[in-house]
Amino acid sequence: MNNVEKLISEQEILKKVEEIGKKITDDFKDESVTIVSVLKGSFIFTADLVRFIKSPVEIAFIAASSYGASTVSSGELKIRYDIDIPVKGQTVILVEDIVDTGLTISRLKEYLYELGAKDVKICTIFDKPDRREKQVTIDYCGFVIPNEFVVGYGLDYNNKYRNLRNLCKITI
Ligand code: IMP
Ligand code: MG
Repeated sequence: MNNVEKLISEQEILKKVEEIGKKITDDFKDESVTIVSVLKGSFIFTADLVRFIKSPVEIAFIAASSYGASTVSSGELKIRYDIDIPVKGQTVILVEDIVDTGLTISRLKEYLYELGAKDVKICTIFDKPDRREKQVTIDYCGFVIPNEFVVGYGLDYNNKYRNLRNLCKITI
């Protein structure tokens, strides 16, 4: 068994998600935006966030992998599941669970521009800037966290712990 220790409570997370939702609503008003949720880690964040956004939204999912079973990013991006709605000419908000090296999200951003998106914003609930390799502008950020491996609120270690309600640090 791995040792897990609470870092950020569910209540604090939800408060922040509400703030981000309000900010997105203010920024886009009645303009329609396409939310592209990066599976699997951001499924819980996305479900909470979209319910705090009052602007018209379309929601799509994308799955890309860069980590495998290890806790170190390989830097290689494979699209395992692609979006099922067109983004040509659309404003897209890419919704991530965590930005670590920045490689995944910057590659996904490029990919959405290749598909013809007009504008691509990045929204992440957690940001771990210490290990950044690729500079990336985060338009909406929940919490900046230290360089620890974290689980819960959708984030996993070997596909487990996604269901923990708090964000926890895990000792591997
Ligand atoms: P990046 O390409 O290094 O920015 O990696 C981003 C992806 O790695 C995230 O979408 C997560 O799926 C995963 N990841 C990075 N750090 C953690 C962590 O602390 N816990 C769980 N997953 C993580
Ligand atoms: Mg992820």
